[in-house]
Amino acid sequence: MKIIITYGTFDLLHYGHINLLRRAKNMGDYLIVGLSTDYFNQEKGKNSYFNYDERKQLLESIRYVDLVIPENSWEQKIKDLEEYKVDIFVMGDDWKGKFDYLNEFCEVRYISRTPEISTTKIKNELKMITLKNNEMSLRVE
Ligand code: CTP
Repeated sequence: MKIIITYGTFDLLHYGHINLLRRAKNMGDYLIVGLSTDYFNQEKGKNSYFNYDERKQLLESIRYVDLVIPENSWEQKIKDLEEYKVDIFVMGDDWKGKFDYLNEFCEVRYISRTPEISTTKIKNELKMITLKNNEMSLRVE
């Protein structure tokens, strides 16, 4: 059985995430997602809209995902690769080169990101819509 692992925050789940998860799962038989905890996100300077349990529940309902584990730190990856006997570590190519040191423990692959979608973009566009709506309601008043 070929075991695949990937990591991330996966906030406001979008089709770029789904593409990554589908392609990762297709590389083998069992896909593990290391999901950044709220604490770890804080450390990374990320502030997710959905909390860890909400993001976990969403990921677990996706057919490509077999197991969700918490990602608490940058350093845990080697331990995870050994514990779960991982064959392939996969990330989007925004991380290209960053995890090459894991090559010693398993195959490391970077796959192309889905263009023009990200959680940050969704958040920014929602902000713009809210601003516009507020402006309009001010004009009406
Ligand atoms: N990803 C992808 N294509 C996208 C967005 C994300 O393949 N359009 C991949 C990332 O490369 C990463 C995984 O999905 O391997 C989780 O990324 P995450 O940082 O949670 O998603 P983003 O949408 O990039 O979030 P943010 O804007 O907060 O960085």
